Amino acid sequence: MLRSENEGALAPPMRDSNSRRRGRLRAALAKWRRRVQTPVAMKGLQNKRRVVVLALAATVFAGCGKMGASAEGTEAAEAGAKDEVQKIWDTRCANCHGDEGLGDGPGAVALDPKPRSFADRKWQATITDDKIRTVIVEGGYAVGLSQSMTANPDLRSRPEVVEGLVKKVRGFR
Ligand code: HEC
Repeated sequence: MLRSENEGALAPPMRDSNSRRRGRLRAALAKWRRRVQTPVAMKGLQNKRRVVVLALAATVFAGCGKMGASAEGTEAAEAGAKDEVQKIWDTRCANCHGDEGLGDGPGAVALDPKPRSFADRKWQATITDDKIRTVIVEGGYAVGLSQSMTANPDLRSRPEVVEGLVKKVRGFR
């Protein structure tokens, strides 16, 4: 578009006098410069603005992405912790407390005192989450119960797993 217009301006009719032709040529050149230069300058400005807008959009996007990623991460961590809680219950607790928390696991047969049934609503109503947590991590001895209730000191640094075990114990009620 620019090109054909310029060609027209730069090729004046033959009958024009030299001075008139020069004048028209100069005018056309000035017009051409204006046309060529202004858009370039404006394009630069527009580009700058576009960069700012893009940067803003990118920031917002990155934020959303991060939020999404962290939400996914939390979900994955929760799912992972739940699996792990079940695994720990099966391998470390069920032997004495039984699969259903009734205190009837094979390891409880020879114990005295025996672990109580977690289905006991009266006991559930009186024991606090805090005490359950302490028993699990520090063992029975720490709260005046039987030493047969072993400590799990490695779980001290894994509060999400301990929390899952508390929920597990509460779930038997
Ligand atoms: C070697 C057997 C054994 C294992 C393994 C065991 N416990 Fe125990 N647990 C006991 C006994 C026995 C008691 C009851 C102690 C008492 O009454 O003096 C007890 C008590 C408890 C109590 C407190 C109940 C109350 O009477 O106040 C909780 C909670 C508990 N165990 C949870 C767990 C969890 C969770 C695990 C697995 C991480 C686990 N125990 C592993 C034997 C065991």
